[in-house]
Amino acid sequence: MRRLLARLRNWTAGKRALVVLLVGVLGGFVLMGLTGTTMVYTSSEQFCSHSCHEMTTNPVMEYTTTVHDKNRTGVRATCPDCHVPHAPIPLYVRKMGAVNDLWGHLITHSIDTRAKFEAKRQVLAERVWTYMKGNDSRECRYCHNVAKMDPEKQSEQAKTRHDRARREKLTCIDCHFAIAHHEPKGGPGPQELDVDTSLVSRGAIF
Ligand code: HEC
Ligand code: HEC
Ligand code: HEC
Repeated sequence: MRRLLARLRNWTAGKRALVVLLVGVLGGFVLMGLTGTTMVYTSSEQFCSHSCHEMTTNPVMEYTTTVHDKNRTGVRATCPDCHVPHAPIPLYVRKMGAVNDLWGHLITHSIDTRAKFEAKRQVLAERVWTYMKGNDSRECRYCHNVAKMDPEKQSEQAKTRHDRARREKLTCIDCHFAIAHHEPKGGPGPQELDVDTSLVSRGAIF
């Protein structure tokens, strides 16, 4: 009788473990689905440009009608193309950093008026420039493949400057800043920023 009871206890313990395991796996799937959906949703142009007035009344207004928004062929680069990394690890790191954006939006209201935005613009731009210098303008290169650029079809100025870029190991953002937004007034530009790029291989292209 005792043995029978012990066996029964074992059996229910096993079953309980199975239930816990099943709930765990199911919960895992639900969580993964939610994370994935959040990632996709928060990486859309719609989300980036229209979910808070800080963006709608500042960067969006300036970006509209720049070459990356509207051009002859209609092929575009939208906010997430330049601001959300395409590779998985940098993507997750960037998404964690977005908590700071939420804090600014909900708690400190750091750029909720045009004046506040203008006042903070140099700091914000420098943050983007530093990031892009540090990764050799990775997001630009996602679309612009330098190996596939035909210098013969480029302007003389572009050709000479791109030669210079190659010689001096400059990256896209060093020269092509303020192409989607107004330029901050005063303060250093990307070429004056001291960023440690020793870990970035610039050899591949420029
Ligand atoms: C999602 C793809 C994409 C990304 C990302 C992207 N671009 Fe572009 N870019 C384009 C396309 C497409 C055009 C050409 C538009 C046209 O003229 O048809 C273009 C045009 C340009 C031009 C030519 C401007 C002109 O006046 O003709 C420059 C310079 C440029 N991009 C630099 C950059 C830099 C710097 C970055 C990164 C900060 C970047 N792009 C990110 C797709 C992209
Ligand atoms: C040393 C400065 C410099 C660097 C670095 C640089 N460019 Fe340029 N680029 C220029 C200049 C100057 C022009 C010509 C003026 C213009 O069209 O804006 C140009 C033109 C272009 C054009 C338009 C070409 C045409 O003739 O229509 C594209 C696209 C472009 N650059 C992309 C890039 C990308 C992508 C990178 C990084 C891989 C890069 N550039 C790095 C200075 C630079
Ligand atoms: C072609 C690439 C590109 C696109 C598209 C783009 N940005 Fe940017 N963004 C930049 C770069 C580069 C900077 C750094 C400052 C500069 O050079 O203009 C920047 C800076 C910013 C800043 C900091 C403030 C400032 O003006 O410097 C904000 C906020 C921002 N972008 C939001 C957006 C939003 C929202 C969109 C879509 C409406 C967008 N960006 C589209 C490249 C881009």
